[in-house]
Amino acid sequence: MSHRSLIVVASKYGCTEKSAFLLQSRLGGAEVVNLRYGKVPDLAAYDTVILGGSIYYGRIRKDMAVFTAQYKQELLRKRLGLFICAGMTGKKGEEELKQAYPDIIYNKAIAKEIIGDEIYPDRISILDKCVLRMVKGKGPKTGGGLSMDKLERFAQTMSAGE
Ligand SMILES: Cc1cc2nc3c(=O)[nH]c(=O)nc-3n(C[C@H](O)[C@H](O)[C@H](O)COP(=O)(O)O)c2cc1C
Repeated sequence: MSHRSLIVVASKYGCTEKSAFLLQSRLGGAEVVNLRYGKVPDLAAYDTVILGGSIYYGRIRKDMAVFTAQYKQELLRKRLGLFICAGMTGKKGEEELKQAYPDIIYNKAIAKEIIGDEIYPDRISILDKCVLRMVKGKGPKTGGGLSMDKLERFAQTMSAGE
């Protein structure tokens, strides 16, 4: 049987998609689909599925919530990895990660990670900029960055025992 891997992401400005490509380069042969533009391939062709989404206002992006609700049963038959891109770290980040995916999927995943965040000031909408200004004040607006350590750890867990 083939060991094919799929990485499905919900990314608004590209940070989660970038994380998916960084993971792809560490998991030889994984395919990447961004729910924002890509068509979801037939999940039957994959035995490993990684789900990644970014957090806005405490919640995972809606297209990922819709995807996990729609494909829950099929996803439960896969080797699963979950990650989020989020500004929050520590306990708050863990809570966001736990709420991002249905419990049954969260509990089955073999790897879960908060990979970090990036904000691209030249890409984000006026509305999102205003919200950020309210939340973050005048501090740096570029995000805390992606954690390569966490990304490597996640990739290692996903490739172990494949
Ligand atoms: C308007 C706005 C609201 C955000 N809200 C949250 C939040 O509630 N919690 C959090 O952890 N990160 C939050 N973030 C940070 C994003 O999750 C982070 O920038 C992420 O890397 C974006 O990924 P994307 O480019 O793939 O959409 C917010 C960012 C913006 C611009």
